[in-house]
Amino acid sequence: MNKEEAKIKIRKLSEEIEKHNYNYYVLSNPVISDYDFDLLLDELIDLEKQFPDLIKPDSPTQRVGGEITKEFKQVTHKYPMLSLSNTYSEEEVRDFEKRVKKNIGQKVEYVCELKYDGVAICLIYENGLLTQAITRGDGVQGDDVIANVKTIRSIPLKLHGDFPDEFEIRGEIYYPHDGFNKLNDDRIEIGEDPFANPRNAASGTLKMQDSAEVAKRPLDCILYYLLGDKLPNKTHYNNLQDAKKWGFEISKNIAICKNPEEIFEFINDWNEGRKKLPFDIDGVVIKVNSIAEQEKLGSTAKSPRWAIAYKYKAERVVTKLLSIDYQVGRTGAITPVANLKPILLAGTIVKRASLHNADIIAQLDVRISDMVYVEKGGEIIPKIIGVDISKRPETAVKVKFI
Ligand code: IVH
Repeated sequence: MNKEEAKIKIRKLSEEIEKHNYNYYVLSNPVISDYDFDLLLDELIDLEKQFPDLIKPDSPTQRVGGEITKEFKQVTHKYPMLSLSNTYSEEEVRDFEKRVKKNIGQKVEYVCELKYDGVAICLIYENGLLTQAITRGDGVQGDDVIANVKTIRSIPLKLHGDFPDEFEIRGEIYYPHDGFNKLNDDRIEIGEDPFANPRNAASGTLKMQDSAEVAKRPLDCILYYLLGDKLPNKTHYNNLQDAKKWGFEISKNIAICKNPEEIFEFINDWNEGRKKLPFDIDGVVIKVNSIAEQEKLGSTAKSPRWAIAYKYKAERVVTKLLSIDYQVGRTGAITPVANLKPILLAGTIVKRASLHNADIIAQLDVRISDMVYVEKGGEIIPKIIGVDISKRPETAVKVKFI
């Protein structure tokens, strides 16, 4: 094959592979087997080996990583990455709705979304190509972690359709439960400390220096917010629907709500529904749908006035600590795990909980036979967060770390 032929073949293969990535990761509708997919990828890798100067930064082969970043480049955000103000009660949501209505002076439409519990990321696209992937940092400046982000297969390296030539899209990088459990099992096995929750795992992974290692981990990303001067629509909702057409994974669990009652219905439905999701959420985000109205409402120094987060309360129960097991990894690192009197927590019977490490055991002053508070927050592994000293039996035994 000569170079001209190789160029055409490389382009065809790249497009085909990315189409399969989109079918698989965004539409959850694969049309070829993993085996056939790997054959296509191998063919492309081979061709790029023969013609290295034809490798493009948006080639699907770049997703296997290999780039080592010693120090991430610090980048100033074009639009600061604000946070959301948090609420925990219906009343606060009603107050928010009243404030918005007063300011806008007419009926307002809202979009309700899930609040993903991961790591915020800002993706920059220029002429349809992913050029930067910046972490939140302090909100003003963040790190460009593009080499690592390119390994996430649901993030398009190149867009299709009718996209603006310059825009940013923000979302959350998260670690799905299955992958997280496996990662922690493997870490315990080789004597490394397990991650406390999927959010920490996502954030730790994103900061790794070797992108080939990142490529081995099943990070995923959901996009929920577009910014730019030439966005195609007047509403947040329609912009997200267009983003899906360009190749992004956006939330399937999203609703347009016209009044507080519809907002509460969404919140209550997902308080149950979240237990079945394959990833963590810690609440619901309520956003004003019209971009003109968002601009009219503006932002404070910390957060926009057009959006609010409703956070689910962590569910907590009290039960008896029966004993502690010490799991020993292959290299000898020890992870303490509490055995509890079985109790119903957030829909499942809990028998075991994380006790982190010796320091935390000492800090909590936990004793065998104590009544302990067990909490399940966003994360899947329940943890012991305190002791009800008033119920401590005289026979309670101080823990001696193995
Ligand atoms: S919108 C200015 N939508 O929550 C508001 N944020 O506390 C732009 N988050 O930094 C963010 N799910 O990391 C938005 N559906 C969602 C979200 C979401 C999770 C995170 C995000 C943000 C933090 C704010």
